[in-house]
Amino acid sequence: MKLDCNIDGKTQVYGIFGYPVKHSKSPTFQTLSFQSSGINAVYLPFEVKPEHLESAVRSIRVLGIKGINVTVPHKEHIIRYVDELSEEVRYIKAANTIHNLDGYLKAYNTDSYGFIRGLEELKMDFRNKKFLVLGAGGASRAILYGLVKEGIQSITVANRTVEKVNQIIDDFKTLHRFIEDIIKPISLSEIEFYIKDVDIIVNTTSVGLREDDRPLFNYELIEDRHTVVDIIYRKTPLLETAERKGCKWQDGLPMLLYQGVKAFKIWTGKEPDIEKVKEVLKGGD
Ligand code: ATR
Repeated sequence: MKLDCNIDGKTQVYGIFGYPVKHSKSPTFQTLSFQSSGINAVYLPFEVKPEHLESAVRSIRVLGIKGINVTVPHKEHIIRYVDELSEEVRYIKAANTIHNLDGYLKAYNTDSYGFIRGLEELKMDFRNKKFLVLGAGGASRAILYGLVKEGIQSITVANRTVEKVNQIIDDFKTLHRFIEDIIKPISLSEIEFYIKDVDIIVNTTSVGLREDDRPLFNYELIEDRHTVVDIIYRKTPLLETAERKGCKWQDGLPMLLYQGVKAFKIWTGKEPDIEKVKEVLKGGD
């Protein structure tokens, strides 16, 4: 009997470790990427409890899994179990992609690439712009790494806990000699004084995920000349305001798409059919 899929003895296994992982769009769009590239591989969701992460990483080697994406809550913890960290992982202190080279595991973080390539879709010269980044958690670190590597000269970072921004500046000292001139830490209450001077506002926090979240600042201060990016996958109150005011805006789907594209490229050396993957991402949650 002929199967309508191509699974056989040579099929390679890829997947994603998360907890929970049910909501992930990666199995669908990475499977499509393999299929449209003619690669004999499957990509599966693995729900890995935090206490099982170390043995799950061992299983990558034992079972010969070729590549793994990593999502919440494992991105920071997984780096202690792999053999090599890429440069961006050393600065971001979190990984979202593991490549298995005959049992030798190298960790990458493709979120910064995903964010920057997503920005390119806005078709603007973002390299000369002034940024306001909201948040200083793991996602913010990846975005800040990407912005500094792209040569952005002015990044105001607002966080509830200002100390976390200072920690990032400290960690990035070897990334850029003048990092203290580039990244300016402020508190959330200071946003109203700084928003006038920035061009692109990026929300990296989870605020906006829930309907009853208190806004990070008074969104009415946003003007039509601002560009607003939220890394949450749907139209948050921040983005609704940006749209109403006539701003250019973007949700988190481009970043999600391109972090996946980069992971796929690390594993296979190929770029998938981007238009097809976009279609998959647009549909459903
Ligand atoms: P992620 O890996 O998704 O970035 P994280 O590392 O837990 O997640 O970071 C969450 C970010 O959202 C932080 O900047 C956090 O602020 P603190 O550093 O002060 O904790 C921010 N955040 C989360 N909930 C928030 C809230 N209700 N108000 C303001 N900031 C919030």
